Amino acid sequence: MSKYRIAWLPGDGIGQEVSDAARLVLDAAGFEAEYLAGDIGWEFWCKEGDPLPPRTLELLRTTHCAFFGAITSKPVADAKRELAPELQYRGLTYRSPIVRMRQLLDLYVCLRPCRAWRGNPLNYREDIDLVVFRENTEGMYIGVEFPKVPESFYAEPAIERLPADAAISIRSVTRKASRRIVEAAFQYAVKHRRRRVTAVHKANVLRATCGVFLEAAQEVAARYPQIQFDTANVDAMGMWLVKNPQNYDVIVTTNLFGDILSDLAAQLVGGMGFAYSGNIGDTYAVFEPTHGSAPKYAGLNKVNPLAGILAAKMMVEWLGEVQIARNIESAVAQLIERGKVRTYDMGGSAGTMDIAHGVAESLHCGTDDRLLSPVSRR
Ligand code: IPM
Ligand code: MG
Repeated sequence: MSKYRIAWLPGDGIGQEVSDAARLVLDAAGFEAEYLAGDIGWEFWCKEGDPLPPRTLELLRTTHCAFFGAITSKPVADAKRELAPELQYRGLTYRSPIVRMRQLLDLYVCLRPCRAWRGNPLNYREDIDLVVFRENTEGMYIGVEFPKVPESFYAEPAIERLPADAAISIRSVTRKASRRIVEAAFQYAVKHRRRRVTAVHKANVLRATCGVFLEAAQEVAARYPQIQFDTANVDAMGMWLVKNPQNYDVIVTTNLFGDILSDLAAQLVGGMGFAYSGNIGDTYAVFEPTHGSAPKYAGLNKVNPLAGILAAKMMVEWLGEVQIARNIESAVAQLIERGKVRTYDMGGSAGTMDIAHGVAESLHCGTDDRLLSPVSRR
């Protein structure tokens, strides 16, 4: 029996092919595991009214961690229309499975590294190496939303001014969740010898929720005097990240801000083809390329699978297979630096699987420590 049981959730659209690419690299790297395929995605919404069926949640409960490809999400009206006729009018609402997994399994850290790989023609600068810690369970993502103001809300004086047809989304921020995400960011900084942690907020306007986050961040930071700590408003942070991305190291923030800033940071180092995430809790984690299912590219063997391959690398690292993770990282770095096998986003004409095979070939050439990030070299 293999040491690891992994829930394998390719999803739909390009989720399938980038997962195949990641799997090819995992196998080539000598990572041994039992992969258990799970149902997730648009197809199960249409057929069963649930894109994350209970049997898949059960699978997560009996595995060490999960690898997730991508899934299609559509706006409310389309979601309703595509539901099987017998499921219509049951009041079912579509909720993103990845957001649900994060919340149901309490995967409170969303870890998103953004590093300029040497030789990537898409790098905005060559000296970018930052990580975003995004709070993953609350904030604007709690799913408490009202298409119009509920009558009972008018008992609250602050609501009085709102027109009755205002749509409302509620943002909730707790001290507990704020502390643990900031704590995770600092622990990462210590472990990986990062110099600086920047907490990002909008406490001058979102006084209640960002106030809690900022206070919690300051409290936690006080316990890590060896790490430089600063804070920034999210709007300014967007600007600074474009202006001087090389100055940032570890960025920690609430859910929606982290969603936005991590896409911004991803674009600085090549875009979504390079953006990968770990959704990490105390005992379980789900690893995924950050991109969506890109239906228009599905089945074309065209998209860049490096994000999925790097998500797989992060997964084996989290499982403790540090040497295998390093080997994969070095193989990816070699492939990018050589620049012979490139997908269309990098100006090449190679296919998804060519990249996977290219990484697998580099794996056989041995690890080149020079190409590892300073963090992995330590
Ligand atoms: C991400 C994605 C998701 C999010 C979507 C697919 C719900 O954008 O992982 O960043 O908003 O968290
Ligand atoms: Mg996003």
